[in-house]
Amino acid sequence: MPSLDFVPVSGVLGALVDGVDLSEGLDDATVESLQAALVEHHVLFFRNQSLTPQQQIAFGSRFGPLGSHPFVGGMADHPEVIEVITEPDDRVNFGGGWHTDVTFLERPDLGSVLYAVEVPPVGGDTLFADQHAAWDALSDNMKEFLDGLVAVHSPGMQYGEGGYSTKSRSIATRDADGAVVTSVEHPVVRTHPVSGRKGLYVNRAFTTRIRGLHYDESAMLLDFLFRHAVEERFTCRFAWEPGSVAMWDNRSVQHFALYDYRGHRRHMRRVTISGDRPF
Ligand SMILES: [Fe+2]
Repeated sequence: MPSLDFVPVSGVLGALVDGVDLSEGLDDATVESLQAALVEHHVLFFRNQSLTPQQQIAFGSRFGPLGSHPFVGGMADHPEVIEVITEPDDRVNFGGGWHTDVTFLERPDLGSVLYAVEVPPVGGDTLFADQHAAWDALSDNMKEFLDGLVAVHSPGMQYGEGGYSTKSRSIATRDADGAVVTSVEHPVVRTHPVSGRKGLYVNRAFTTRIRGLHYDESAMLLDFLFRHAVEERFTCRFAWEPGSVAMWDNRSVQHFALYDYRGHRRHMRRVTISGDRPF
């Protein structure tokens, strides 16, 4: 087994992993070591990788069955792989805004593996925010109030008519008409199934309201939680190079793909690992 090195990229979350070539078949000990590091650091970064879509599928599959996106199509030959492309004249980018992936599903993804094919000369970083740290920082009284509450999540704001993500020309959105009406419920405070740590589990992209509160109360509380959850003190930031890979634990983080490179092209490939029902 190769000797892996994990170097934190901020004081809160995220680690750069040295000593592994993701294009090769990994032995079980390496996979277990990466799994443990993912739970500890919440997002892992790798540099100077070279992955074909098939190799990216093989790597992601070591962490669980791969999923597909209900509104975004995959590559023709590799349906598990989504091409995330921003063209130079695009007005919006995919993933631009703080969110946790697909929380409008009953079983949101466990995580994603994102591989950079082409990046702008400058800009296009991704931010990550540790939702366990955000939970830990709340007062005991607020924790007591939030624990046990249930929130409603819907894809409508992103994938419904006029939704932000449907404006992203280069992403193959499909079946977005049905997006407005569907919704699911998840606990506002989620327990990580491996670490047992609690974390906030609401996000501005998909969470629409909190059950059992008046409309105004829900809107006020959600606005506070959306802002609190992504304060700078809970974040790390990753600058991409061609060949960089990020793998995040979607049960622990929110993320934000910055769009500060208009006029340039950015091309990423993503696979997602299927997840369980949050509790
Ligand atoms: Fe995302």
